[in-house]
Amino acid sequence: MGEVDEQEGWGFETRAIHAGQEADPATGAVVPPLSLSTTFAQEAVGVHKGYEYSRSGNPTRTTLEACLAALEGAGNGIAFSSGLAAEDALFRTLSPGDHVLLPHDAYGGTFRLVARVHDRFGIDWSPVDLGDLDSVEAAWTDATRMVWVETPTNPALSIVDIGAIAKLARKRNARVVVDNTFATPYLQQPLTLGAHAVVHSSTKYLGGHSDVVGGFVATHDAELADDVRFLQNAIGAVPSPFDCYLVLRGVKTLAVRMDRHCHNARAVVETLRAHDAVANVLYPGLPEHPGHEIAARQMRDFGGMVSFTLLGGENAALDVVAKTRLFTLAESLGAVESLIEHPARMTHASVAGSSVAVDPALVRLSVGIETTGDLVADLRQALDALVW
Ligand SMILES: Cc1ncc(COP(=O)(O)O)c(C=O)c1O
Repeated sequence: MGEVDEQEGWGFETRAIHAGQEADPATGAVVPPLSLSTTFAQEAVGVHKGYEYSRSGNPTRTTLEACLAALEGAGNGIAFSSGLAAEDALFRTLSPGDHVLLPHDAYGGTFRLVARVHDRFGIDWSPVDLGDLDSVEAAWTDATRMVWVETPTNPALSIVDIGAIAKLARKRNARVVVDNTFATPYLQQPLTLGAHAVVHSSTKYLGGHSDVVGGFVATHDAELADDVRFLQNAIGAVPSPFDCYLVLRGVKTLAVRMDRHCHNARAVVETLRAHDAVANVLYPGLPEHPGHEIAARQMRDFGGMVSFTLLGGENAALDVVAKTRLFTLAESLGAVESLIEHPARMTHASVAGSSVAVDPALVRLSVGIETTGDLVADLRQALDALVW
C-alpha cells in the first residue's frame, strides 16, 4: 500500500500523528526536522529538490499542510501566518462586483476584513442569519459567489446547517467556506458535508497551547486551491517554519485535548445553569439550544466554548471576568488553559455599534483541560461574589 492509500485508511488520531510525517530519510529523525533555511541549493538553474525560496515553499510548511489537509479529509492544504491571512486569501479569490453572504454574528475580525478592507475593493456583502434558509434565499443576488459559514459562531455559539447551505449554494454556483476554528476537524468535517473550503485560525485548538499564531485553508476544489496557493506566495502571508513546527506538534494531541475540552465544558455548563446570577447559557450541547439537533448531527461533540449572559447586565459581566482566578482574563481561545473574556469590549470591540455587535451582558469562556472540579469551583466563587 502506498503512503496515500495507507493514510486513507487511517483513523483521525493516527493521521494527526503520522500524516505527512515520515522518519527523516537523511537521519532517521522521527520528528520531521525544522527547516529554517530561506533558500535551497540548485544543481543547475531550475534543477532542485522541490524547494527554491522559503516564501514559495518550505519543507516544514509542506509537512504541516499535508497533515492538516489529511485531518480535514482534503486534497489540498495551504498554511498562512494567521487565520485572518487565510481568510483574506479566500476573499481575494473574488472579483469586484462579487457578492458574499456573511453570518450576521460572524467573528468580528471576519466582519472587519470584509466591511472595511474588501468592501473598498468592490466586494459587495450582506450579513444574514444563516440559520434561516428563507433569509439566505432573500439575501441572495445574481452576483453571490460565496457564502461564509461559521459554526459554532464566535461568541454566540449559534449553529448553521452546513449541508443545507452547501446544497443551496451548489445549485446557484457559489462556493461555501466554513470557518472550522471552534469545532476543529476532530469534531466537524465540513468538506464531507458539502462545503468547498475550510478555513482555520490555527492559533486556537490546532496549535492548542497559546504560543503560535497561524491560519489554514483546506479544499478539494483544485481550481480554488491553485488560486489560494498562488495568493499565498504572491502576497507572502506565510507562517514561519517554527510556527509550522509548533502547530504540527500541537495537532498530535488534538483528539485527546478536544475530548477533555468537551468534558470540562459540560461540567461548566451545569454549574452556570444552576447559578442564580446567570440569565442564559449558550452552548450547542444543551437540548434547548436552537441549533442542538443540527449540531448533534454534524458534530462529534459540542466543543469547549461556552458563553453566558448575566442578569446583572454589563456591570455583572465585567465583575465576573475580573474575579476568576484560574480562568485567565484574556483574548483568544482553544488552548489548554481556561480563558474568560468580555467580547463586547475585547475581541468584538471592532464591531461595536454594527449589526453584529455583541450583547454587553455576555461573557465568553474557553474551557481548558485543567482539573474539572477546579474550573467549576473557580467560576462558582466568581459568580457567588457578585453583588446584584
Ligand atoms: C472563529 C475565528 N476565525 C478566525 C479568527 C482569526 O484568526 P487569527 O487571530 O489567527 O488571525 C479568529 C480569531 O479569534 C476566530 O475566533
